[in-house]
Parts: sequence; structure tokens; C-alpha cells
Amino acid sequence: MISSVKYTPSSLNTSTFSCRKFPVQKPQLSTLPIIQNVKKNTYLNLLSSSNQKPLYLACTNTFIKPRSRNNLTECKAYEADRSRSLDINIDVSDENSTQKFKIGLYFATWWALNVVFNIYNKKVLNAFPYPWLTSTLSLAAGSLIMLISWATRVAEVPKVNFDFLKALFPVAVAHTIGHVAATVSMSKVAVSFTHIIKSGEPAFSVLVSRFFLGEAFPMPVYLSLLPIIGGCALSALTELNFNMIGFMGAMISNLAFVFRNIFSKKGMKGMSVSGMNYYACLSILSLLILTPFAIAVEGPKLWAAGWQTAVSQIGPNFVWWVVAQSVFYHLYNQVSYMSLDQISPLTFSIGNTMKRISVIVTSILIFHTPLKPVNALGAAIAILGTFLYSQVIHLN
Ligand code: 3PG
Repeated sequence: MISSVKYTPSSLNTSTFSCRKFPVQKPQLSTLPIIQNVKKNTYLNLLSSSNQKPLYLACTNTFIKPRSRNNLTECKAYEADRSRSLDINIDVSDENSTQKFKIGLYFATWWALNVVFNIYNKKVLNAFPYPWLTSTLSLAAGSLIMLISWATRVAEVPKVNFDFLKALFPVAVAHTIGHVAATVSMSKVAVSFTHIIKSGEPAFSVLVSRFFLGEAFPMPVYLSLLPIIGGCALSALTELNFNMIGFMGAMISNLAFVFRNIFSKKGMKGMSVSGMNYYACLSILSLLILTPFAIAVEGPKLWAAGWQTAVSQIGPNFVWWVVAQSVFYHLYNQVSYMSLDQISPLTFSIGNTMKRISVIVTSILIFHTPLKPVNALGAAIAILGTFLYSQVIHLN
């Protein structure tokens, strides 16, 4: 997979990259500085630059004509995760050990933060069943953290303009719907069940792309949907504490996140902000969108009464649970968006699948979620399908 090679111009020039099956001589490995966010021009520059310089290549099986930006974004399903990565991402095949370590660290942090968020989110929702407010607080915490970071110059202030905000708006609407729907789901069913259904997001991705955007996929992609859909269906049918709102919330979240990724891919092309700032702007816009709806659906009266009940049951610690779920929501998302600056969509989607496994297993253990073996089998099949999907979609 790793292909850092030195080349000699006599044996290799840009035209030699035109055949996919080009027989590659054993590359002479060299240590390269990590090249991140390699864009088309950088890539071409490297090809045409001094012949003494090492050449950055994607990988030997993409030893073809230099990949254009279009080719980089060619993956047609708006993957379960963040299709924005398809726009900003890179070839990561020259990951050296430092880069691998860094990615490992990102993943470990992302999963850990996500697990902690899910645990505290559920604890809060059990005591205080107002998902619209908790969703709003998650976005508010993130917005506050980022505004402070910008004000104190801890983070670089993004240069955004009206066009950026206009393009971000539909992404934020979809993000808001997906976030609230997932939280509503988790207020009604076990965390594990929400995440099992959320592992079905690739199926939504392919079906929406197929039926709304008219995009076709190779047969392996459709086949990978069978275990995903079958596994989710088996799990839903055998779920001991099935609840229709909980189920529909997770399904709506899947659909909304697919549209978020489509809007993100279509609207944000060519715009450049870091992953961290992109997510910060998304949070702030989503907060502005969500707040009036949260007030309309639940409202301060219910919140005040619910808060008093929760504090009387849990004690003063309840406040810290709310803080934890809000802050960890922002942190895990921020890390996941930051990791997009470092890794390929494939690596990301595999990471996201593994993340779901961590959340499902941890939440079952912590909340002692009752589980029938057939239910667990459904979850395992669905997750396996997601993993297969993440493999075949990137071959597309
Ligand atoms: C949310 O509240 O936005 C969801 O829990 C997000 O879930 P995901 O990041 O695991 O898709």
C-alpha cells in the first residue's frame, strides 16, 4: 500500500501512468516527509519537479495517470460518514510510522470520546427525557468552545464568506435533523439498538444515490447491502425493547446524514477550511437552526420541571452529566472531522464501523442491555456488511 519511490525520468514520466495495469518495477523505498492534503497541483508538481526529488505516489494499484481532483471525488455513494472527506482528502498511502501512529491516536481518541458521549448522553436522557434540549446543548457547548478558541487565538479564525455560509446551510439543516433524530432515538431505545440501526447508513447512502441521483454502482456494492439491511432487520425484529419512535429516529438520522453528506460534497467543493473549523461553523449554524425548534417542541416549562425532577433523583452530579454529554459530543465530532484531514475516506469509514462496535459493546456492558443471541447475531451481520461495504465502495 505504501509507495514512496524515487524515480528516474528516463524510466518514468507522466505518460507512463496511463495504463492501470502498468507493470511496476520494484520501487526503491525512501523515507519521505509526510505530505498531507496533497492536492492535484501538488501532485503534478511533484511529478514534474526535479528528478532528484522523491515522487509521491498514491499506491501501486493506482499507478495510473495522475489522479485529478475529480477522480479523487469520484466515489459515488455519500458514505456513511463524512463525504466532505472526499473533497478534501488525500492519498494516504505514504503513511510512514509517524503518520500511522498519529492516525491510530486519532482513532483511539475519536472512539473513546464517542463512547463517553454515548454513555453520558443516555444517562442524561434516562433522567431527563428531553432530547431536543440535550441536542441543542451539545451544539451550544461546541459553539462556545470554538468561539472561545477563536477569541483567544487558540484556534485559527476561519475566513468564511457569504458563499461559504450559503453552501453550509443545507449541510447544517441535515446535520441538525440527523443529530436530533439520533438523540430522540436514544431517548426511546437502548444506545446499542440506535447504533445497530445507524450501522445501516451505507444502505441509505447507496439507495438515495441510486434513486434520487441516478447513480449506478457495481454489483458488489449492492450485494454488501444485503447483510446490512438483513442484519439491521433481524436486530430490529428481535429487539426486546423495540420502540417505533426510537427505530424511526435512527432511520431518519441515517437519511439526514446521507443528505448532509450529499450537500456537503456538492456545495462545499473547492472551499477550504480546516476540518476543525468546518465542524465549528457547522455546529454554530446548526445551533441557530435548532434552538427555535427545540423551544417550540419542548420549551422552557417542560425543561424546568424535568430539570428539577432529574436533579432531585440524581443529585448535583446531574449537571456534570449534562456538561459531559455536551462537551464530549463536540470533542468526538471535532476529532472525527480533524481526522478527515489526515486519512482517506476508506480508512475513515472503517474507523467509523469500528467506532460503532465500540459503542454497541460498551453500552451493552454499562447499561446491562438485555440481548437475545439472535439480536446480537443481527447486529454482527449488519456490522460485517458495513465493513464489506466500506471495502467495496472504494473500489468503485
Ligand atoms: C448524533 O447525535 O449526532 C449522533 O449520535 C451521531 O452519531 P454518529 O456520529 O455516530 O453517526
